[in-house]
Formats: sequence, C-alpha cells, structure tokens
Amino acid sequence: MSIRSKLIIFMLVLLTAVSAVMAFLFQRNEWSSISSNSQRKNLQILLAMSEVCKEMSDTPDKSYAYRYFKTFLKTPEIIQVSCSGAKGRIFLEDRYYSPQPPPFLYRYTTFPPPRIGTWETRSDGGVEILKASVNTLNSKKRTVTASVDFSTQLIYQEMDSSLRQSSASFFIILSIAFALGCAGTLIITRVIFTPIQSIAEGARIIGSGRLDHRIPVTSRDEMGMLASELNDMADKLKEVSDMKQDFVSSITHDLRSPVTGIELCSDIILKLVENREQAKIPEQVFSINEHSQRLNRYIDSLLEISKMESGKMTLDLKTVNLEDLADRAVRAFRAYAEQKGLKLELIVGQDIPATRGDPDRLYQVLANVIGNAVKFTASGSVSVFIEATPGWQKVRVCDTGIGIPPGETANIFSKFYRINRGKRDYPAAGQGTGLGLFIAKFIIEQHGGRIEVESAPGKGSSFAVFLPA
Ligand SMILES: Nc1ncnc2c1ncn2[C@@H]1O[C@H](COP(=O)(O)OP(=O)(O)OP(=O)(O)O)[C@@H](O)[C@H]1O
Ligand SMILES: [Mg+2]
Repeated sequence: MSIRSKLIIFMLVLLTAVSAVMAFLFQRNEWSSISSNSQRKNLQILLAMSEVCKEMSDTPDKSYAYRYFKTFLKTPEIIQVSCSGAKGRIFLEDRYYSPQPPPFLYRYTTFPPPRIGTWETRSDGGVEILKASVNTLNSKKRTVTASVDFSTQLIYQEMDSSLRQSSASFFIILSIAFALGCAGTLIITRVIFTPIQSIAEGARIIGSGRLDHRIPVTSRDEMGMLASELNDMADKLKEVSDMKQDFVSSITHDLRSPVTGIELCSDIILKLVENREQAKIPEQVFSINEHSQRLNRYIDSLLEISKMESGKMTLDLKTVNLEDLADRAVRAFRAYAEQKGLKLELIVGQDIPATRGDPDRLYQVLANVIGNAVKFTASGSVSVFIEATPGWQKVRVCDTGIGIPPGETANIFSKFYRINRGKRDYPAAGQGTGLGLFIAKFIIEQHGGRIEVESAPGKGSSFAVFLPA
C-alpha cells in the first residue's frame, strides 16, 4: 500500500475517532446541563408551591390558592400538587391526569436531587413519580408542607427532546467539520505527494543512467530542497562519470601512445640489428627513453593523486628559499624555451625572506607552472617574478602565450582537464596529462597558500602562487 493511501486511511480513522469522542463528550455534557436545568426548574416550582401553601394556611379563603394550583398543573410534568399541615392533614390538593408516555427504554444516570426539600421516586400504578415536598413555617409558626408530584417519564421526555434538538445542530456541524477534514486530507496528501511522486520519478530516471535529467524545483520548501539536493547529486554523479570517462580515455590514449612508441622503437631496433645497421640504434634507444620517461611521469602523477586522495600525502617541511627553487625550475626549462625561441627570465624582488615548506613539492609546483607557460607560448617571453607582499610570498609566472578562455580558468585545476584536448590544431593539446595544476593546487593549499590565474586569450596568462610568509 502506498504511503499516500496509508496517510489517507490514518487521517480518516483519526477524524472518525475525534468525531466519536467529541460526540460522546457533547452528549454527556449536554445531558448533565439539561438535567441540572430541569432540576432547577422543578425546585423553583416546589418553592413557588411552598409560598402558595404558606399564604393559603394564613387565610381562610382558598379560592386564589386553587387558581395557582390550576396554573401549576398546566405544566405537563406535574401530576399532583398539595398543601398539608403538621400531622399530614391535607389542606388542599389537586391532581391532573396527563397521559403518560411509555417508560423510557434507556435510563439516563440519575442526577443528585436538590438539597432543599425531600425528593423521592416511587411507582404509582405503572407511572414513575418523583415526589417532592418542602416544609415551611406560616405566620403562626405552624409547619406547612408543600408537595409536588412530577412524572419522571414526562421529565425525561422533555429532557430527551431538548437533547435531540441540540444534538441535531451539533451533528450537522460535526458532519460539516468531518467533510471538511476529509477534503483537507485529500488536498494535503495531494499537495505533499505530487512533488514526492515527481521527485521519485526524477530519481528513477537519473538512477537509470540519464544523468542529464534534472528534477523540476517548483517550491522552496523541504520538497524543493530535496529536489535540488538530488539535482546536485546528479551534477556530482555526472561530474564523476565524466571524470571516469576522461580518466579512461586519458589512460587509453596517454598510456597507450608511449607504450606503442616503445614497441615501435624496439621493433625498429630488431630490424636494424637484422640489417646490421647498428649506427642507427642509439636514436631509437633515445626515443624509447623519452617515451619511458613520459610513461613514468604519467604513472607518477596517477600515484600522487591516489596518495592525495587517500590523505597519505605528507609534507616534509623545511626552510626553503623560493629564489633557489625558481632558479632551478627556470634552468630546467631554459633549453626548451630556447628551442622555441622564447625569452625566459627570473626577476627577484627586494628582501625576499625564507619561508617554510616542502622543497620537493614546491619545486614540482613551480616546474609545472613554468613548464606550462613555456609549453603554451609560441612566441614572446615567459617571466618569473618573486615578490614579497604583507603576509605572503608570491611567485608570478607571466607568459605571452595562447591564453585561457574566461570560462575555462576554473576548469584547468580539475583532474585530467586540458583545454581543447584532442584538437590537433590546438598547440600542445596532446602533450600533457591535465594533472599538473590539479596536483599543484592541492600542494599549495596544503601549505596554506593559494593559486590564482588571470588570462586574456591570445595575449597571455599570469599564474600567481601565494605562500604564507
Ligand atoms: N600558461 C598557460 N597558458 C595557456 N593554457 C594553460 C596554461 N597553463 C595551463 N593551461 C591549460 O590548463 C590545462 C591544464 O594544465 P595542467 O598543468 O594541469 O596540465 P597539462 O600541462 O596539460 O599536463 P601536465 O601538467 O600533467 O603535463 C592545460 O592543458 C592547458 O590547456
Ligand atoms: Mg602542466
């Protein structure tokens, strides 16, 4: 059963239970209020009778008392009224035989009689009678007893009809409230479950592998948040999937091409040996060496990344001199720069203090940034500046190369990312692994520093490495 059906059933059961409890409480309270009203009324009748009896015992003329008696007897529940003296001698009595309804099937809980007078229930020829009497003293200090007999069946009938009337209005209101509750339940479940269904459907589609699918975010509530969280998750999955794709194609391309190169060279060597052309062998050995170095670099980078990601890369902190490190890196690329006809210079600012860091790792960073600048510059120059700013030591590498399109500056620090990778006409596109800047950024951040880039396509780029002084 779906959660929606369960919720609807739960709400209906809850509404029914609440209605039943309310109906029960209403009936009980209403009955006790009706019965206390009825008691009050009966007591008032008895007290009025007592006044009449008192007056009557003081005067010999009984005719006005009769008039009162007749008035009392007009009340349907009153069967008999009488006034009597001390020894039970009846002064005046009147009786009215009103037709009695059949006895009530259900007896409501009897209510406590009023504190004034004597109240007792008796059966008189099948008719249940509530006998009430009260004593009073007349002007001659003689006791006069006023008695009223009520028909309990008629009292109950009257109470019952009042209860029916008020219950009818109560049940109409309760039914309207119940209907509104049901409608509200349906609306609420619809409002809640429509987005859940759309999220579930979206998650199913994404789960089936369509990572480009996005769940529409229609609100800012928890459902909207859930949908956008799932969309973010899909973004991450897409990223990971693209990365995996990149990784696989990088591995297949970048690992395969040097291996194929080595294989080809060794084939050629074998042929050269066969043809006794030993003189040409060193050239092939040189080529094999270059391919192996490239292969090794690639494998080193992969191992390094796996170390970084498993948190096993630790820094061997020492006092380092940035000028020395940069000088080493510049010298390493001098031949390459000269070969491309580029001017490569190192400009060291005033008073550069020593800093702490892992010299090998920092050299790796500078070598990659300077190497990139030489690699992606066809003509002009590459300048390396060492500067000290308050709190930071900065190595800035500026080139006059191809530059980086504005939308790509954040991407180049991602794993395996190379701009226009695979495009033959893009200079140096196929040469790298796309891991250098990713590793560099990680190393610099481990040192508490940062790496920034500014670039204008076609004009050149400037990479700045900041290290805490
Ligand atoms: N100075 C630069 N000028 C223009 N583009 C650059 C420059 N430096 C980096 N890039 C771009 O950023 C990409 C990523 O650089 P990164 O150093 O991570 O990789 P790579 O140099 O291609 O390979 P690797 O460093 O592993 O040999 C490069 O492929 C290039 O497209
Ligand atoms: Mg690089």
